Amino acid sequence: MGESKNAGIIGVGSAVPDKVLSNADLEKIVDTSDEWIRNMTGIVERRIASEGEAASDYAVRASHVALERAGLAVADIDLIIVATITGDMPFPATASIVQNKLGAQCPAFDLSAGCSGWVYSLATAHAFITSGTYKNVLVIGVDLLTRITNWTDRSTCVLFGDAAAAAIMAPVEPGYGMLCFELGSDGSGAELLCAPDGGSARELTHEGLDAHRNKLVMEGREVFKFAVKIQGDATERVLAKCGLTPEDVDLVVPHQANVRIIDSAVNRLGMPREKFFVNLDRYGNTSAASIGLALDEAIQAGKVKKGNVIVLVGFGAGLTWAAGLMKWAY
Ligand code: ACO
Repeated sequence: MGESKNAGIIGVGSAVPDKVLSNADLEKIVDTSDEWIRNMTGIVERRIASEGEAASDYAVRASHVALERAGLAVADIDLIIVATITGDMPFPATASIVQNKLGAQCPAFDLSAGCSGWVYSLATAHAFITSGTYKNVLVIGVDLLTRITNWTDRSTCVLFGDAAAAAIMAPVEPGYGMLCFELGSDGSGAELLCAPDGGSARELTHEGLDAHRNKLVMEGREVFKFAVKIQGDATERVLAKCGLTPEDVDLVVPHQANVRIIDSAVNRLGMPREKFFVNLDRYGNTSAASIGLALDEAIQAGKVKKGNVIVLVGFGAGLTWAAGLMKWAY
């Protein structure tokens, strides 16, 4: 294909497990309360994958929906990018497993940037399309974070849920699609949110397993402070790159980690609360799937129209952040 100056999302789909884990269910597992979880996070329930299911299963389901909505077939996919930190196996890439399950014939790779991974992947797809390398790119964000949850740690186990979201990125008409990105990383915060053991730095031992060091550990308060600051900073920077102001924005789809983090951005940017899409009450923090899942529900709820200016903004393990601004193309 020839070079295209514009690339954007032309279809979105998502998939979540049927099984619901409510705050009341969590009260039976750890010393917590529905009231604490609602007040401190805004989360009411989350979805949990069943035994025998894998990240790739949800990725494939979300992809079929996105393809149908984009009016494309599996054979039209030129590249698959899967953003995840909970792939089917440590290796190979889950993207290759998804490629095989879909029956696609194209290159495929994973991208790891925690909860920022999906927006990082959209930026990557954008570069491939606008350089003329590939035309239709399937961008999936999927995480089964409950697989790496330490169910004895009340400060983290109430936060997360499982989901997948997929978008088809393709050339779009001039002036539309993804217009600006703001990506960042501050690896000095790597240990604030990580699975400490089981990688090349620290092998997984029996003691590590007993101490749940192969599971997610988080310094919640530090991550919270980072998130509050970076969410506002990244949104302001991506707007500045496009020469826009908060008044120009029709919808913000933020990473769904904690409603208090989202409210801080509402206050800082001085935007109406209704312009921030929130669905974390029903899904918790679904990591790399979170922004795509929220975007999908916003579209299905009729909140997204052609020409709307939409900001996607997330932060996560790394520590990383990512914002993308688009003019909706369909
Ligand atoms: N139920 C009841 N009490 C609890 C719970 C719980 N589930 N969890 C913690 N507490 C208690 C603590 O023990 C502490 O008690 P103490 O004062 O007696 O010591 C008290 O509540 C306050 O705990 P903090 O951890 O200091 O509370 P904080 O105000 O920081 O809120 C929270 C905790 C909600 C986790 C917050 O820090 C947060 O949202 N952090 C950001 C998390 C996040 O967004 N992470 C995702 C990043 S994305 C990714 O890549 C996965």
